Parts: sequence; C-alpha cells; structure tokens
Amino acid sequence: MDWWFDPARSYASNVEDGPFGAFAEGRATPETPATPGEMFLGHPVHRPFGIAAGPLPTSRHCAAAFRHGFDVSAYKTVRSRAMPAHVFPNTLAVRVDGDLAAEPGTTLVADHDLASATSISNSYGVPSRDPDEWQPDMAAAAVAAGDGQLLVGSCQGTRDGGDDHLVADYARAAGLVAETGVGAIELNLSCPNEGTGALLCFDTPLVAKVVRAVRERIGDVPLAVKIAYFRDDDALAALVRAIAPVVDAIAAVNTLPARLVDAEGRPALPGPGRDTAGVCGAAIRWAGLDMTRRLARHRERTRTEWAVIGVGGVLVAGDYEDYRAAGADAVMTATGAMRDAGLGRAVRATSTSPPRSP
Ligand SMILES: Cc1cc2nc3c(=O)[nH]c(=O)nc-3n(C[C@H](O)[C@H](O)[C@H](O)COP(=O)(O)O)c2cc1C
Repeated sequence: MDWWFDPARSYASNVEDGPFGAFAEGRATPETPATPGEMFLGHPVHRPFGIAAGPLPTSRHCAAAFRHGFDVSAYKTVRSRAMPAHVFPNTLAVRVDGDLAAEPGTTLVADHDLASATSISNSYGVPSRDPDEWQPDMAAAAVAAGDGQLLVGSCQGTRDGGDDHLVADYARAAGLVAETGVGAIELNLSCPNEGTGALLCFDTPLVAKVVRAVRERIGDVPLAVKIAYFRDDDALAALVRAIAPVVDAIAAVNTLPARLVDAEGRPALPGPGRDTAGVCGAAIRWAGLDMTRRLARHRERTRTEWAVIGVGGVLVAGDYEDYRAAGADAVMTATGAMRDAGLGRAVRATSTSPPRSP
C-alpha cells in the first residue's frame, strides 16, 4: 500500500517531507467533468467529497489532494499557537470484529501491521505550527484549490484557563484561519482535553458561546463544526437547536475512543494519558451514517438550513453514495484516502446525486 501520509514515520517527517509516493506527483489528474456539478456551502464543486481534517498538514498535501480529485478537502486542524505532537508512534492498526461499540472502555488489540488494516487508531494530540508558519501555508493551500474545489480550514481553541479563555482562543484561531482566504472554516469541537471533563461538543452552552464568538470574528465565511458520536439523541437535538442559527454545516463523526493494548495486554502507545486513542475507518462507518441520518432528521424537525458533512469509514465510492443517501450534503474521508489515493477519482466517476445544499 502506498501510504502518502505515512504512519510508519513521525508526524514531523510527514509534515517536513510528505506527501510520499505517487500521490505527491502531478501525474494522476482525474478526468474532470466539464463544469462543477453541485453547490456546497455556496461554492460550486465537482463532487462534495474530499479529505477530512487530519492527513493534510501542509499546502503540498492539500495541492496533491486537489490534483487527485478530492474536491472538498480540509487542512489539518491548527491552533492559535504552536503545540508539539504526541511522541511516535501515533497511528496503529486495530483489530475490530465488525462495528466498534460507542460505549466507553472498549479494549482493542493494536499493532503495526497497517497493510491489511481497514480500521486504524490515531493519537497525535492535535499538534500545530505557529500561526506565522501555518498562515502563509494555508493561504497557499487555498489557492491550490482549482475550479470546482474548496479548501476547508480546520482549527480549534486551546484551554489554558477558564471557559472565557477557551471561547476567546477559538475566535482567535478562527480569525487567523479566515485571514488565509479559505472557502470555509471548520471548528474541531470533538478533541479531548478542551471541554469540562469531556469533549467540548457535549457541553452545549459552551459550544453556543464558541460559535457565536467565532461568527462575530469571521463574518460571512461559511462555518462548520465537527462533532463526536452522540449516544443521547435529545442532547444532539439540543445542540442542533442551539447552534443551527449560527453555523452553516455540522460534520460528524470524529473518531470513536478505545483503549489500545498490544498482544500481551500492555498499553500500546507510550507516555502518560495515551491509554485511549481515537479509532477511525471501517469500524466506525455505522456511527458516521447514524449521525448523518439523525442530523438530517433534526434539521428537518427544526426547519433550519445547514449542511450535513458525513465522515467515518468511507473506504470505497459506494460508501460515499450510502452517505449521500443517508442525507449527507458532503462526505469526507481520512482513513479511506490514506489507504487509497484513487478514491477521489472513483467518487468523481459516480453519478451525480441530486443537490440539496443550502
Ligand atoms: C491521521 C489522522 C489525523 C487526524 N487529525 C484530525 C484533526 O487534526 N482534526 C480533526 O477534526 N480530525 C482529525 N482526524 C479525524 C478525521 O478527520 C475523521 O473524523 C476520522 O478519522 C473518521 O474518518 P475516517 O473513518 O474516514 O478516518 C484525524 C484522523 C486521522 C486518521
């Protein structure tokens, strides 16, 4: 397998030397439909499909993604300040029998045999370069989006004080992203450590403050939020009611958490606080599809207009079509694109779904 974002290398090496292999070269330009066929967040796009926040940490990666037909792709989440990555390794193969349960505390055996893995784990800690470095690079990535393509800039705040600090830092980060000229901004609300003992997306009053502060800072730039799997549908409905008037899209899901051990039952990742990691790929497809259906239903019930971005376990073009049928206005993949650089081209070859985006 040709890993253009290579789990066998450190995060720093992926940033400095990547992308790797044929993905990095210019020769794989997909057959481009004559005119963009759909609208997404006010932008004409060939296909509302691309690479989710994660495997594209530089403009070189983003430009390669666009060349390969990943038309709606996200620059990896940035912060308003520099932050180091967790120590290597960060991505392991996980062995899951069928669907990964959303209950906390599931233990999985993880190993380095990524070649055959359809589900992987990631534990990077959301590293970031300093804005002085990532801002010009993100601006270059936005320019790399061709006709019918859209760069999404993902960011998050950093908690180093009370809630007010966190809200202000989300607004600061989003403002810095807006200055780069991206076509849309996505707030990562599903990262551990930034909420009150849980993920920020489960703290509806705080999320409402964050999105209002961000909206005030970024003006009319289309705004998406990325959330985790909600087991409680009433809580999801409450979040939708609170933020629907402010956001343009809700993306789900981020990874599902699991405790990772090696074959001997020891923690699979080194260092404190890394017992649990996020699982992505085939084992969480059910969760992304379930959230897509429920978000579409809540949108209908609230009679509000915003887009659903379906994420999780999209490994082949048929998975993209399943998400569209479930109500997704756009679909994104991380694991699937890492495994198969031809996935953008394969989705380009699917027949156009009827547009419904706002
Ligand atoms: C290597 C890697 C890095 C990731 N980094 C981020 C990130 O910085 N921000 C974010 O919102 N999600 C991040 N994710 C989560 C993905 O965006 C996505 O939500 C998740 O992987 C599920 O999609 P998948 O099954 O297609 O991989 C990352 C995923 C991977 C595999």
